[in-house]
Amino acid sequence: MPGPAVLSAAATALVAALLLLRREDAGPGRGPSMAVTEALPKLREDFRMQNKSVFILGASGETGRALLKEMLEQSLFSKVTLIGRRKLTFGGEAYKNVNQEVVDFEKLDDYASAFQGHDVGFCCLGTTRKKAGAEGFVRVDRDYVLKSAELAKAGGCKHFNLLSAIGADKSSNFLYLRVKGEIEAGVEELKFDRYSVFRPGVLLCDRQESRPAEWLFRKFFGSLPESWASGYSVPVVTVVRAMLNNAVQSSDKKMELLDNKAIHDLGKADGSLKP
Ligand SMILES: NC(=O)c1ccc[n+]([C@@H]2O[C@H](COP(=O)([O-])OP(=O)(O)OC[C@H]3O[C@@H](n4cnc5c(N)ncnc54)[C@H](OP(=O)(O)O)[C@@H]3O)[C@@H](O)[C@H]2O)c1
Ligand SMILES: *[C@@H]1O[C@H](CO)[C@@H](O)[C@H](O)[C@H]1NC(C)=O
Repeated sequence: MPGPAVLSAAATALVAALLLLRREDAGPGRGPSMAVTEALPKLREDFRMQNKSVFILGASGETGRALLKEMLEQSLFSKVTLIGRRKLTFGGEAYKNVNQEVVDFEKLDDYASAFQGHDVGFCCLGTTRKKAGAEGFVRVDRDYVLKSAELAKAGGCKHFNLLSAIGADKSSNFLYLRVKGEIEAGVEELKFDRYSVFRPGVLLCDRQESRPAEWLFRKFFGSLPESWASGYSVPVVTVVRAMLNNAVQSSDKKMELLDNKAIHDLGKADGSLKP
């Protein structure tokens, strides 16, 4: 009998294979426009001058941690607050002004003040079915995220950024993709002044915990030509740079949807950043 890890790896591989067939997901992005690349330093400078405050949900995760690091390196915000279920410790001078709000996600209404006064919010929260079970997954990836977004909106947040996933679709038969689609739509109903949704493929990073399915993926992608692999995977650092490169630009659209291709293009728009 194959163990649960192998079965979960196989199931994930199947989902991925199906996703691959959905070519529209890898559809045209915005393109790595030269205009954006050239404008970025100025955009960042103008953004800094606005002294904005930001919160991150899920800053202990792979994406959240990379996002925090990158936004501190770029000094984009005057005030950075992490909202999470536990206090995190960081080494390094750069982190010394980072605020932390520890909340109980089961009683978020009691922590409404944690969500007050942030101009921009990034949500990188999430768990897996394997870690939390189907119910736990829905609780975190949908209920916690939606409640947090509600409180952020009530607290004055103008620009909400949601880390979703490739293939998100509220009518999907797959729990994972359905929940991602539901949360995307749920947050949209809150009508933030600006709402940006990121739909990356498999996140490439050196994960601290072991996830056999993702490991299998990385081996698989590693053996493919770069141009193929980049259609359905993306390095975490590219995702967070895309999020920030997007945030520093003003937008007249209320909602933006960045697919895996758009994330690649925008996340790599600035060649001057360290790899
Ligand atoms: N992995 C991929 O290939 C992939 C691809 C596309 C999209 N995504 C999506 O991207 C998002 C982030 O992924 P990631 O790999 O960066 O996540 P990750 O490393 O697993 O981090 C998840 C974050 O969510 C928090 N969290 C998890 N369960 C929680 C709970 N019960 N209560 C409170 N906080 C909880 C974690 O806090 P603690 O540290 O306290 O646990 C952590 O900060 C997820 O929504 C995921 O579905 C992932
Ligand atoms: C931002 O902060 C700087 C320095 O604290 C200040 O000089 C500037 O006027 C502030 N800008 C805005 C838009 O509040």
